Amino acid sequence: MTDDVAARATAGFRSAYAGPPAGRWAAPGRANLIGEHTDYNDGFVLPFALPLRTVAAAAPQPGERWTVWSELSGETIAFDADELAGPGRVTGWGAYVAGVVWALREAGHAVPGARLAIASDVPLGSGLSSSAALEAAVLAALVDLGGLDLPADRQPRLAQRAENGYVGAPTGIMDQSAVIRCRAGHALFLDCRDESVEHIPFDLDTSGLAVLVVDSRAPHRHADGEYAARRRSCEAAAGLLGVAALRDVPTDGLADALARIDDAETRRRVRHVVTEDQRVLDTVALLRAGKVREIGPLLTASHASMRDDFEITVPEVDTAVEAALSAGALGARMTGGGFGGCVLALVDAERADAVAAAVTAAYGERGFAAPGHVTVLPGPGATRLD
Ligand code: GLA
Repeated sequence: MTDDVAARATAGFRSAYAGPPAGRWAAPGRANLIGEHTDYNDGFVLPFALPLRTVAAAAPQPGERWTVWSELSGETIAFDADELAGPGRVTGWGAYVAGVVWALREAGHAVPGARLAIASDVPLGSGLSSSAALEAAVLAALVDLGGLDLPADRQPRLAQRAENGYVGAPTGIMDQSAVIRCRAGHALFLDCRDESVEHIPFDLDTSGLAVLVVDSRAPHRHADGEYAARRRSCEAAAGLLGVAALRDVPTDGLADALARIDDAETRRRVRHVVTEDQRVLDTVALLRAGKVREIGPLLTASHASMRDDFEITVPEVDTAVEAALSAGALGARMTGGGFGGCVLALVDAERADAVAAAVTAAYGERGFAAPGHVTVLPGPGATRLD
């Protein structure tokens, strides 16, 4: 096995199917710079693509049949049109692949039968959107192999439909948009209401900065149920306030809105979403002005809001954020849906190792399993390799 993910996908394809693929398609994982749990509130997010990728090597095969090998399990699964009658027949990692075929067919596309081989460098269950990367790589492959009329700006909704409708996770549009639409060297400023985007330069290199991604290794604690509960609570609050979504509560109307909500927990949820949308806008304004260092406090404020108001952090991620800040990070926050996953810290590049060491030491003192870490620069979105 080689270290190169694209080469591993090809090798997997050749050994599973005794022939070469017709092409290879890659999609990255993502980190969200800021804007958490704002996407399903029709708000703003600012993710960027990671240099870690999932690659699908693929070729057409006759009939309405899909065969998929994955290096993850080393197994090959297969399903045909009958098994796509409804959600639930294909499970595990295969559900993300079947979900994409299902969503394409639901949308009226003539999906070509295909053989696929999947290899990935995106860690699973770390909150870096390994599922969206898998969906996007498979979707790009099927769109190209079938010559389907589905331009990149319409692909995120389709991939989200696979996740919501087939896999059964009630996620928003951020992850799929990030992995499909991001550009290298930029963060993706996405308005989740109308899906308009602006590519915001996020030039870490020339500023002498780096983003350190720390994998908290915290076991996911009820993440799915808690995510759905947060979403329900936000939707109920929007209903109570008489707005289509919490995005419609302006920052200067927050105090009035909170005064109309009796339940203290709901007030905290609303305050997180409304202030987080504003932090995204403030971060974008600073980045547009080239003031990358100055976004640090906004990242840290976002973390405090997730910890105290949205209540989606766990001791491991709080410890990582505190240790990173004490060791000189300019800002740090949990990224992704919460209840574990990764922390990102904005650091002076030459301090990255020291900050990582400080987090590891703090974990040792608290008796937590050692965290993982990697420094990243914003990479490209999904693309055909060859
Ligand atoms: C998960 C979901 C996204 C988004 C984030 C929280 O990653 O898939 O849609 O809601 O959580 O910002």
